[in-house]
Amino acid sequence: MSARNSGQQWGWVAKALHWLIFLLMLAAWFAVESHEDFPKGSAERAQWMLLHKSFGASVFFLVWLRLYWRLSGPLPTPEPAPRWQHLAAAGLHWVLYGLMIFMPLTGLAASQFSGRIVSFFGLFDIPVFLAANKTLAGQLMGLHKEILWPLLLLLVAGHAAAALWHHFITKDRTLRRMLPFVS
Ligand code: HEM
Ligand code: HEM
Repeated sequence: MSARNSGQQWGWVAKALHWLIFLLMLAAWFAVESHEDFPKGSAERAQWMLLHKSFGASVFFLVWLRLYWRLSGPLPTPEPAPRWQHLAAAGLHWVLYGLMIFMPLTGLAASQFSGRIVSFFGLFDIPVFLAANKTLAGQLMGLHKEILWPLLLLLVAGHAAAALWHHFITKDRTLRRMLPFVS
């Protein structure tokens, strides 16, 4: 399978980035849910949060590569559908790109304004380089947890439902051509 996209198919780089970012977001969610099971101040709670932040920061690092790849290469032609569906899909995709940036960015910025160093899987630290601002940190956390996260859930549910609709109802290649190991 070719690395670059063609008119008919997503290349392996686009597929790998799509599914890797999906798995990283799932892992970030699982880690933050798991930290709730342990009491405040425990080593386990801190460890799950370290994983949450590290998976989340990985999304932030990878999305730039994904955007570069998306904007620099050819794209598969969308399967035939009414014009409004093409417009809705394209709009949704760009909002999802926005969320892949702003979901981790609000977490990282809140950590900055709380004066907390973020360790990336214990490999290196993202230092604090912004002055502490507890109010702003609280507002960014509110955005992270109360607005962006529910929005991401809603839009990914709609996006996945649309992919399944294409597969099972209109029976076209939209889902198949994004699946790994399917050519
Ligand atoms: C794609 C990336 C990310 C996703 C999907 C994500 C998702 C979430 C979710 C679902 C929660 C829990 C919301 C709730 O309690 O209702 C949360 C909380 C949190 N996230 Fe993230 N997050 C991401 C990246 C980050 C990053 C990069 C950081 C910091 C470097 C971060 C820091 C936090 C913190 C501090 C909390 C609060 C935990 C608590 O309430 O004890 N997140 N995030
Ligand atoms: C974190 C979750 C997800 C995010 C952020 C996400 C994001 C995206 C984005 C931005 C695109 C557009 C690619 C481009 O035009 O550059 C896309 C394409 C696609 N996604 Fe997802 N996706 C997620 C989960 C899923 C899931 C769970 C499915 C399947 C059930 C899925 C199926 C697809 C398919 C089939 C395409 C290709 C659409 C086409 O050819 O027009 N995605 N995804």
